[in-house]
Amino acid sequence: MTAPPAALSGVPGSGPLTRPFTSPRPASYATIPRAPRLRDCRDHPLPPGPRPRLPGLLTLRFQRDTPRFLRGLRDEYGDAVSFVLAGQVFIGLFAPAMVHEVLVAQQSAFVKGVGFARMRKVLGEGLLTNEEPIHMRHRRMMQPPFQRSRLDGYATLMSDLAREHIATWRDGSVIALAPAMMRLTLLIVAQTLFGTDARHHTDRITESMDIAIDRIERTMLPGLDRLDSLPLPYWRAFHRAADDLSMIAEELIAHRRGSMAGTPQGEPADDLLGLLLALRDEDGSGFTDEEVRDEALTLILSGHETTANALTWAFSWLAGRPDLAAALREEAASLPERIGVAEAMSASVAGQVVNESLRLAPPVWVAPRRALRDVTVAGVPIPAGAHVLVSQYVTHRDPLLYPQPDQWLPQRWSDGLITRLPKGAYFPFGAGSRKCLGDRFALVEARIILLMAARHCSLSPADPRRPLPRAQPRATYRALGAVPMRVSCQ
Ligand code: HEM
Repeated sequence: MTAPPAALSGVPGSGPLTRPFTSPRPASYATIPRAPRLRDCRDHPLPPGPRPRLPGLLTLRFQRDTPRFLRGLRDEYGDAVSFVLAGQVFIGLFAPAMVHEVLVAQQSAFVKGVGFARMRKVLGEGLLTNEEPIHMRHRRMMQPPFQRSRLDGYATLMSDLAREHIATWRDGSVIALAPAMMRLTLLIVAQTLFGTDARHHTDRITESMDIAIDRIERTMLPGLDRLDSLPLPYWRAFHRAADDLSMIAEELIAHRRGSMAGTPQGEPADDLLGLLLALRDEDGSGFTDEEVRDEALTLILSGHETTANALTWAFSWLAGRPDLAAALREEAASLPERIGVAEAMSASVAGQVVNESLRLAPPVWVAPRRALRDVTVAGVPIPAGAHVLVSQYVTHRDPLLYPQPDQWLPQRWSDGLITRLPKGAYFPFGAGSRKCLGDRFALVEARIILLMAARHCSLSPADPRRPLPRAQPRATYRALGAVPMRVSCQ
C-alpha cells in the first residue's frame, strides 16, 4: 500500500520518497517558542477574556462551534480577547487593523499555527503548510501558472465541465447539492492540474480526501496530534488515507514523466502538473518529485473544498431570493455559451452573490498563527509562543463595517463597498505573503458555475420547512448534510 512507484524518487537515484505523514518538521524552519501558560504571563498584560474555574467547560464550548465561540467572545470582551485551552494561551484579534498587522504588516513575527501541523501530515511541505525559507522559493515558482494569461484556458475547461455536470440535473428531480459541488470542483481542479489522467482517480481521491479532511478537522485543540499515532482503526485510517493520496499523486507524476520521455522534446503537457514539472528557479533548479507531489496535493485539497462550500451556501441563499435568481439568469443569458475570465469577472450580479457568500460563510473562517517572539499588535502585547487567531467569520460580521451583519445582502457590494473597506476588513482569501494563490481561479470558477446553473435551472430547498442548511464548521465552513435541492428548469 505504501511503496511508491519504482520510477519515483525525491532526487533521481536517491531511493523512495518519504511520506508526509511521518516526516518531521524540517530543521530549516524557525523554532516555535513554547506556548505560554497563564502563569507565564503575570508580567505580560493579556487582553480580557473568560477565566472559568472549570476550564473543561470552555474547551467544550470552543469545540462545539468555534466560530460562534469566537464571535461571542468579541461581543462580550471586545476586539482583543484571551483565553486558555489545554493550558495554553490563545489571543483572538478581530479589528481590521489588528488583522492587517498579523497577516501583513508584521507577518514575519508569526508562523502558521494550530491545525497546520496536522495538515502537513497529508500535504507535506506544499505551499499551504510550508514555512520560510521554503515558502518564498515555492511561492515565486508557483505564481506563473496562476497568472491571468493562464486563467483563460482554465475558464474554458470550467465552463465545459460545469455545463456537462449541470446538464445532468433533471427538471423536478432532487439533487444533493453539497456533494454535487464537491464533485464538480474536484473534477475542475483535478483536470486543470493533471489533465485527463485525473478522471480515473477522482473516486479514490474523494474517498481518501474525505477521511483526511475529517481527521484534520479535529485540529484546533493543541496536543490532539498525539492521537494520530494510536493503534486505533479511526486514526489508522487517517494514516492510510494520507499515504494513499501521496501514492495517487506519485503515480500521476511517474506516468507523466513517462509520457514526457516519449515526446520528441520531452515536452510537458500544458496543465498545472506539466508546469510544475517544468518550473525552474532563477538558479535553474526545479522541484524534486517530492516537492511536486506535495504541491499537487496542496492544490487539489485547497482548490476544491473551499469553492464547493462557498457555492453550496450561495445556492442555498439564492433559493430564498427569487429576484436575485432572476437577475442572475438574465445576466447569464447575456453571456456567450462558454464564459471566459473577462465575462465572468464583469458579471456584476454573480460577483455580488459570491462576495456576500464569502463574507457570511467564509470557507476559511480562521487563520491560526503562533508568535515567534514578543510582539505588539495594534497596541496589544502578544507573548512569544502564544496562539493568535484572526477570524474571517468574526471580522466579516462586524456591524460597524457591515450593517445587518447576519443578513445575506449581496446588493451591499453593488456600489464599490470593496474599495471603501479598511484593510483587514474583508479577507476571505487571507492577506500578505500567505494570501491564497488561487483567489482569482476560485472567483472565476464560482461565478462560472453560478451563471451556468442559472442558465439551466433554479434550485429550491427540497424541504421548504428547512430553507437554509445548518453550519458544520470544521477546517472549512461547511453546510451540514447533503443539502437536498429541487431542480426547476424553465
Ligand atoms: C473560495 C475559494 C477559496 C478560499 C476562500 C480560499 C482561502 C484561502 C485562504 C484564507 C488562504 C490563506 C490561509 C492562511 O493564511 O492561513 C489560502 C491559501 C492558499 N490557497 Fe486558497 N482559497 C480558495 C480557493 C483556492 C484555490 C481554487 C486554490 C488553487 C487552485 C487555492 C490554493 C491556495 C494555496 C496554494 C494557498 C497557500 C498560499 C501560500 O501560503 O503561499 N485556494 N486560501
